[in-house]
Amino acid sequence: MTILLRLLYASEAQQGLTDDDIAAILESARRHNEPLGITGALSARGGHFAQVLEGPELAVLRTYVRIADDTRHHDPQLITIGTVNDRIYGDWFMGGVTDDSNPLVQIDELRTLRDHTVRRDQATLLMGRWLALLQAQTNG
Ligand SMILES: Cc1cc2nc3c(=O)[nH]c(=O)nc-3n(C[C@H](O)[C@H](O)[C@H](O)COP(=O)(O)O)c2cc1C
Repeated sequence: MTILLRLLYASEAQQGLTDDDIAAILESARRHNEPLGITGALSARGGHFAQVLEGPELAVLRTYVRIADDTRHHDPQLITIGTVNDRIYGDWFMGGVTDDSNPLVQIDELRTLRDHTVRRDQATLLMGRWLALLQAQTNG
């Protein structure tokens, strides 16, 4: 049976990234993720990225390592990582979250609750909120 891994990280975007640059990142992400069975969401706001990757363990780890080396951002920080039974993002091979005004504020709120360690259920709540935003963006 395939082990499903889910992780959430946050990073600082390279200065001067445009909406077109973010669209190009999403295009590349989806092209690679679909054949690998990786789903997730990418939030890009206010100079920060936050991204959820979920899928087969090895594919997620390899993809994360590749992303972490990308010069379009820096200082990636893993916020949560763990095996899961089910996906949150079903068939979103990488949803672009554009409506969440500042995901890092939420992540910081989560962090302060437990000294730099974010409880998994709290991170999962944030991921659920992004899913709702993705669904609202598509329907609206
Ligand atoms: C914030 C960010 C998120 C990214 N997310 C993904 C991703 O989910 N999957 C992926 O394969 N590449 C992702 N990338 C792109 C990779 O870092 C890398 O550029 C890409 O896989 C190279 O493939 P390409 O040259 O075929 O576009 C991301 C890059 C950045 C900066």
